[in-house]
Amino acid sequence: MPVNVLFSARAALWPVYEPLLTRYLTEAGLDFSLGIEFAPGEVDYVVYAPNGGLRDFTPYTRLKAVLSLWAGIESIADNETLTVPLARMVDHGLTQGMTEWVVGHVLRYHLGMDAHIHGLNGEWRQDVPPLASERSVTVLGLGALGEASARALAALNFNVAGWSRSPKGITGVTCLHGADGLVRALSNADIVVLLLPDTSATENTLNAETLALLPKGARIINPGRGPLIDDDALLTALNAGQIDHATLDVFRTEPLPADHPYWTHPNVTVTPHIASETRPATAAQVICENIRRGEAGEPFLHLVDRDLGY
Ligand SMILES: NC(=O)c1ccc[n+]([C@@H]2O[C@H](COP(=O)([O-])OP(=O)(O)OC[C@H]3O[C@@H](n4cnc5c(N)ncnc54)[C@H](OP(=O)(O)O)[C@@H]3O)[C@@H](O)[C@H]2O)c1
Repeated sequence: MPVNVLFSARAALWPVYEPLLTRYLTEAGLDFSLGIEFAPGEVDYVVYAPNGGLRDFTPYTRLKAVLSLWAGIESIADNETLTVPLARMVDHGLTQGMTEWVVGHVLRYHLGMDAHIHGLNGEWRQDVPPLASERSVTVLGLGALGEASARALAALNFNVAGWSRSPKGITGVTCLHGADGLVRALSNADIVVLLLPDTSATENTLNAETLALLPKGARIINPGRGPLIDDDALLTALNAGQIDHATLDVFRTEPLPADHPYWTHPNVTVTPHIASETRPATAAQVICENIRRGEAGEPFLHLVDRDLGY
């Protein structure tokens, strides 16, 4: 009997993924049927993104696993109709894209590029930036994306600290964890990058209290998720000069509502959730490797801990 693989994501992605998944499932030697429509009771695996619209997994009685195309799985992690393993996306292309975006925005702040992009208005003012080794960057979250970003920043000689839930060791990065670790991670950070998942434990990681721990004039870069930051506290800290500038890619409500103060705040850069995305050419291989593993009785890669929410 063939392995039935349902693709449930944005319709426009199907023509992109269909040939790639076909190729890698074939290379895995599987007898499979791949499509966007099956009787629910006949589906073995769902390749999933929230914008495919699938919410109720109850009729999927034969399901072996749900394989997310997204790294962030907060919208499905607490779905009580899902009782089979859930794997999130860890994709080399997605990681590379995020690393480039983070390094780019850190360098923007580090080098003070805005002054020259906006123009010096005829004033020959030579503010030479310090070296990266004189700049402290803290990365909150040291998972697939945070670790790669921290390593890339360390390779540029930034003074990098990282914070995670469990202890870590990453060469060139001061790794911290726990509540005390967060205080240390923030207390001398010139630039903070948020790459935490959106869970009940990470909501408002940056709030009035933790923003006050940062050196005055710190910068924030959030490509993680909107709820990681208490928006009112950030706006207050921006208006007080405690935070010099924030670059925000993700928001509690997306698209960011037209009347949201972030759009017009002079010290906020809004990017429309484009920091990185899953790259089909590499992600399809990850999905197919997990299906191969499922069929071979091997453990799935990148399983979500549903209790922790990531
Ligand atoms: N803007 C975009 O375009 C975009 C694209 C992709 C992903 N994202 C976001 O990026 C997030 C991170 O992705 P990822 O693949 O790197 O996730 P990941 O591999 O699951 O890593 C999550 C990291 O956060 C840490 N963490 C989780 N809960 C914590 C807590 N309560 N306290 C301290 N640290 C905690 C984890 O600690 P441990 O290592 O100890 O487990 C881990 O280091 C995603 O969840 C998604 O929201 C955004």
